[in-house]
Amino acid sequence: MKHLIAGNWKMNGDQALAKSLVAGLAVKAGTKPKADIVLCPPAPLLQAVAAAASGSALALGAQDCHADEKGAHTGDVSAWLLKDIGCSFVIVGHSERRADHGESDALVKAKAAAALKAGLTPIICVGETDAERNRGETTRVIARQLTGSIPDLGSALSLVVAYEPVWAIGTGRTATTADIAAVHGQIREVFAAVGGTARSAQVETLRILYGGSVKGSNAASILATHGVNGALVGGASLDLEDFWRIIEACP
Ligand code: PGA
Repeated sequence: MKHLIAGNWKMNGDQALAKSLVAGLAVKAGTKPKADIVLCPPAPLLQAVAAAASGSALALGAQDCHADEKGAHTGDVSAWLLKDIGCSFVIVGHSERRADHGESDALVKAKAAAALKAGLTPIICVGETDAERNRGETTRVIARQLTGSIPDLGSALSLVVAYEPVWAIGTGRTATTADIAAVHGQIREVFAAVGGTARSAQVETLRILYGGSVKGSNAASILATHGVNGALVGGASLDLEDFWRIIEACP
C-alpha cells in the first residue's frame, strides 16, 4: 500500500498558484509518483487545479462537503457535486471546521456518510487539543471522535483517518514518533474492536495519516513511523519544493 500525501491548502492560494504549483507538481509526479497524492484547494479553485493536474497522477479533493445531496443550503457544496467535477476525496471534520463552525461528531459523521454515498473517499480528521493532552485525555478524545464521526465503524474501510493533534497544526510543533505510533495503533484498535479476527487483518489496510506541521525536514521520520500511512499537509503543501520533499520522503 502506497502512502497517501494530501495537501490541504485551507483558505490559501489563487488561480495563479493553482496553475504554477500544480503544473510543477504534475511534471514531477508524472504518472507513477512514489506516493498517492491528493490536492485539496479551496472549492473555487478545484477545477483550475484539475485542469493543471490533467494527465498526471495527482488526485483532487475538497476541504468540506454538506451532508445533503442538494437543497436550500446557501453557500454549501454537496459531495455529489464534488464527485461530478472530478474530486475523489473530501476532508471532513478538520479541527478548524470543528472549532470555527462548531461542527459536532454527529455532523462530521453525516458528512462522511454522504461522501461515501457519493463515491468519494472521506478523510476524517480527529485530534486532541493541547488542554486535553495536558489533562491526559488524548486516548479518550480520540475514541470519542472516532465512534462519533465514523459512519459505520464495523464495515467502512473505504475511508481515510487523519490524526491531527490540534496543538501541532500550523505551530511548528509535532508529536513524537512514539506518540504518533501509539495513537495510530489506538485508531486501528478502535476499528478492529468492532469485528472478529478477519476484521483485524482488514483493518491493517486502513490508511491513517498524520497531520500537524509536517514538512520536508521532518517528513522522513514521521512517514516511516509504524502505523503511519501518509500525511495531511497544510502550510508545506503551498510550497512546491517542500511538498515534493515530503512525497520523496515516503518509504
Ligand atoms: P499544517 O496543517 O501542516 O500547516 O500544520 C495541517 C492541517 O491542518 O491539515
